[in-house]
Amino acid sequence: MRRLWPEPAGELSDGELLAAYPRADGPLLRVNMITSLDGAATLEGRSGSLGGPADQDLMKRLRTQADVVVVGAGTIRVEGYGATLLDEQAQAWRVAHGLTPHPRFAVVTRGGDVPERFFADPPARPIVITYASAPHAYPDAAEVIDCGDSSVDPAVMVAELAARGLSQILCEGGPHLLGSLVAADLVDELCLTVSPTLAGPGSVRIVAGPPAAPHRMTPAHVLTDGTHLFLRHTRTR
Ligand SMILES: NC(=O)c1ccc[n+]([C@@H]2O[C@H](COP(=O)([O-])OP(=O)(O)OC[C@H]3O[C@@H](n4cnc5c(N)ncnc54)[C@H](OP(=O)(O)O)[C@@H]3O)[C@@H](O)[C@H]2O)c1
Repeated sequence: MRRLWPEPAGELSDGELLAAYPRADGPLLRVNMITSLDGAATLEGRSGSLGGPADQDLMKRLRTQADVVVVGAGTIRVEGYGATLLDEQAQAWRVAHGLTPHPRFAVVTRGGDVPERFFADPPARPIVITYASAPHAYPDAAEVIDCGDSSVDPAVMVAELAARGLSQILCEGGPHLLGSLVAADLVDELCLTVSPTLAGPGSVRIVAGPPAAPHRMTPAHVLTDGTHLFLRHTRTR
């Protein structure tokens, strides 16, 4: 991976790459998404085919730095998420840096249709983020957090996670979850991979849901592996 901007740099070392996506001193809601050149969030219904090895590697590094990885139930249902997010090397890095071996893994849902594999043999206690009047039929092993009475209030979600010591949040989508976070102006950082693909008409964008006010972001860097672009933007507040 090379840096194109702000200062061009040759191949980044492991340490330089991790340093390009630092944990924050305070709470951080970081989002990692991928898009095609023409703004599609999926190819044939999945985001994976837009990515590549460098994108997978970056995803692992971002997970390595996170206290909790938060994903919408729609994404868990479609993508091949299991309960374990990190390999042994990444676990060892976390332990060496004073973190738990694994980040927590949280799903956001209203209806409760969460695949069993999300709860199967988890390396850390799985979290279900929902609200008080929603169905609550989850395995005992899960920690269920109600973040509102009749809907998930994204700001309450962030506060409830922080109250559990999970202040470095990595959200991996999908579009409806990200749409609600953008609408609530909670996104501190967007890590966006741009795939060299024209997906054509018919796909969703990386955000979905009701219209909301726009928010300006500040570019932090542009990296490339020679095919994909890796943009990092932070929220201007
Ligand atoms: N390009 C990318 O980077 C990227 C990333 C992730 C996913 N995707 C793609 O996006 C597609 C899925 O889209 P999606 O919009 O359905 O994904 P999603 O946001 O992960 O899932 C939507 C579902 O998540 C729950 N949810 C999301 N936001 C919520 C909120 N604010 N409050 C309560 N529940 C909430 C609801 O679950 P219940 O239905 O269980 O109530 C909702 O139906 C897949 O094709 C996936 O491949 C792309």
